[in-house]
Amino acid sequence: MTQYVSVDPARPDPEVIACAARIIREGGLVAFPTETVYGLGANAFDPAAVAGVFRAKGRPSDNPLIVHIAGTDDLEIAARAVPEKARKLGASFWPGPLTMVLVASPGVPRVTSGGLATVAVRVPAHPVATALIRASGTPVAAPSANRSGRPSPTNARHVLEDLDGRIDMILDGGPCTVGVESSVIDLTGDPPVLLRPGGLSRSSIEAVIGDIRTLEQAPEAANRSPGTRYRHYAPKARVILAGPGEVAREVARHLSDGRRVGVMAVHPVPGGRAGLSVRMMSADPAGYARELFAALREMDDLNCEVIVAETVDERGLGSAVMDRLRRASQGDSAGPSQGS
Ligand code: TXA
Ligand code: MG
Repeated sequence: MTQYVSVDPARPDPEVIACAARIIREGGLVAFPTETVYGLGANAFDPAAVAGVFRAKGRPSDNPLIVHIAGTDDLEIAARAVPEKARKLGASFWPGPLTMVLVASPGVPRVTSGGLATVAVRVPAHPVATALIRASGTPVAAPSANRSGRPSPTNARHVLEDLDGRIDMILDGGPCTVGVESSVIDLTGDPPVLLRPGGLSRSSIEAVIGDIRTLEQAPEAANRSPGTRYRHYAPKARVILAGPGEVAREVARHLSDGRRVGVMAVHPVPGGRAGLSVRMMSADPAGYARELFAALREMDDLNCEVIVAETVDERGLGSAVMDRLRRASQGDSAGPSQGS
């Protein structure tokens, strides 16, 4: 049985938090809101509990979890060496949507770190997450609270859809404000490598620690980033990316093939056509990021066979949005234009 409890996102009831923390301490699994997406938490130092997270999600065991701490003071519990650049990033952006990969302290269980010598650490910026970690008295290992491969959950209903009956508790603290996962940066080498674009933009990071590299610029780092190997964010429908000038043509093409089409559109698309569902998305990348995963799930609920997703500029959070859309589409973009 999964207990489902609503909490005030700004001031969670201490009794509810105490109950959730007891579950964590006793080796159970609790889904909780963060500012990015919902996480599925377990005691990071309890190998059996962490193994339960992998089981509940159906996650490959070599894909390590992020260890969530309540504040920078707890960093040394998880990480052995904390370079200067990591200290600067922590001072500037924690609590917040940034995860740092550092050399792991010897106490971090292998199951948590996926057998790597490194550990990913984050201080989330959500009162419910902070309260839960503090009350648990231990760092909380938490991947996104979705079944492996599905879009990440940005509200508690998404968690229920994926994990009802497989975990002990869901804390419903309303919708997530960022909507895409944290940016993951590997600081075990210099220059640091951005392993996953996310809720904190590359330019914000570079403003504090200077140039960093992306995975395209440092492909060898992909070996250190197991998450990049797996299929992600995949709704049941086929996802096709289309630039602003290509959306109408792609929609028409798939409708005329008799498919149920969903469109995630920044610019207006004529609706009222049989088989077509239109979902307007924010033009601003931060808004698109907040709506993205819920929109992918909605399209599945509408039984769309094809989702045409309008692309956005890769500025600010736009790069995280495009990363998630590309993974969801597995490389499907608008076909060649016909005629001209
Ligand atoms: O915003 C977030 O980061 C959310 C919330 C719950 O904090 N968590 C999240 O966790 O997205 P997850 O497990 O879905 O993604 C973690 C990513 C994966 O791509 C994983 O491979 C990578 O971080 N990662 C974890 N530990 C790592 C390590 N030691 N070295 C390299 N990559 C690591
Ligand atoms: Mg995930």
